[in-house]
Amino acid sequence: MRITLLIILITNLLFAKELISPIEENVIVDINKALLGKKLFFEKRLSKDNTISCASCHIIAEGGDDNKRVSEGINKKKGSLNAPTVLNSKYNFVQFWDGRAKNLEEQAAGPIHNPIEMGSDLKTVVKELKKDPGYVKRFREVFNDVIKPNYITEAIAEFENALVTPNSRFDKFLKGDIHAITEYEKEGFELFKSYGCISCHNGVNMGGNLFQKMGILKKKDYQNKEYLGRYNVTKDEEDKFFYKVPGLRNIEQTAPYFHSGEVKTLKEAVELMMEFQLGIKPNSKSVEKIEAFLKTLNGEMPKIMELK
Ligand code: HEC
Ligand code: HEC
Repeated sequence: MRITLLIILITNLLFAKELISPIEENVIVDINKALLGKKLFFEKRLSKDNTISCASCHIIAEGGDDNKRVSEGINKKKGSLNAPTVLNSKYNFVQFWDGRAKNLEEQAAGPIHNPIEMGSDLKTVVKELKKDPGYVKRFREVFNDVIKPNYITEAIAEFENALVTPNSRFDKFLKGDIHAITEYEKEGFELFKSYGCISCHNGVNMGGNLFQKMGILKKKDYQNKEYLGRYNVTKDEEDKFFYKVPGLRNIEQTAPYFHSGEVKTLKEAVELMMEFQLGIKPNSKSVEKIEAFLKTLNGEMPKIMELK
């Protein structure tokens, strides 16, 4: 393991208590821009054959992912990766499993151009939307201009900035309501800290702020050989099998798990993490407690979903 990595893990552990902060209750967004972004998020005309929208693969009410092992795009083409959630994605330091998009705006252009996702391109989308007087008017109101590619991604990103899920029972606990979670769940949180899960899963999103290798403490690595993660961006041998650590908010609702979507249950995900990331032999008592703790992370639906 690289020395720097070791140092990061150790310092994280030392300061583990302060490492998770609650999701903000009132996010500040440009509401008109965000609502235009919301309309675009559900817009099937963003895809080549008008069959797929962002929401096809990111179902907000069901955890912000598609509950499939790997995503299916236009013409039922299957990708090779499990869709991460869009909920709380604004807290990620970069976007995608390999971190190739530096922010949500850059990310949004990805699926539109991806031949197996939406198979279109922003220029074509602009042309399509310009045919619709409703859109022309909305863009004029928000950007005081004609429809342009960067306005589309900017509006979608603003909508995503509003996709936060505050007030989970755990967040209430963090804010001082000591009865918001049960003793049993609290014991799960203690294990989450003492075992060192928190060294990788921390920050507001309990993840999403560093790249980590899958299978660091197990010789026989648990690795999907086809997908090399961060290596695809840096071409640095040392980055093979490093992925953006996924956030754990609403984790109960986002099965199946891992970049490959191979792991069906939360229980199994926790067991594998103990074994492969921490070198601890999983025992059912601890696994159940941690699982119970993770289920306290379900937050409220983003307020913007109620607005038109
Ligand atoms: C065909 C299914 C599909 C469609 C359509 C789709 N996505 Fe995704 N989305 C995915 C998959 C799969 C990934 C992970 C890809 C990767 O990491 O390379 C992803 C990743 C993301 C991420 C990064 C989250 C993270 O934690 O890294 C965001 C944000 C996102 N999508 C938003 C969108 C938006 C906005 C649209 C519409 C413009 C969209 N998606 C359309 C499947 C889809
Ligand atoms: C060394 C860093 C590290 C440690 C320690 C760690 N994880 Fe992870 N965790 C990751 C990475 C990286 C992934 C993504 C793996 C993949 O996609 O193949 C992940 C994935 C997960 C997932 C699946 C998330 C999803 O959306 O697919 C869960 C659940 C999880 N970890 C829980 C835990 C728990 C519980 C512990 C402690 C027992 C723990 N992790 C310890 C880095 C870590």
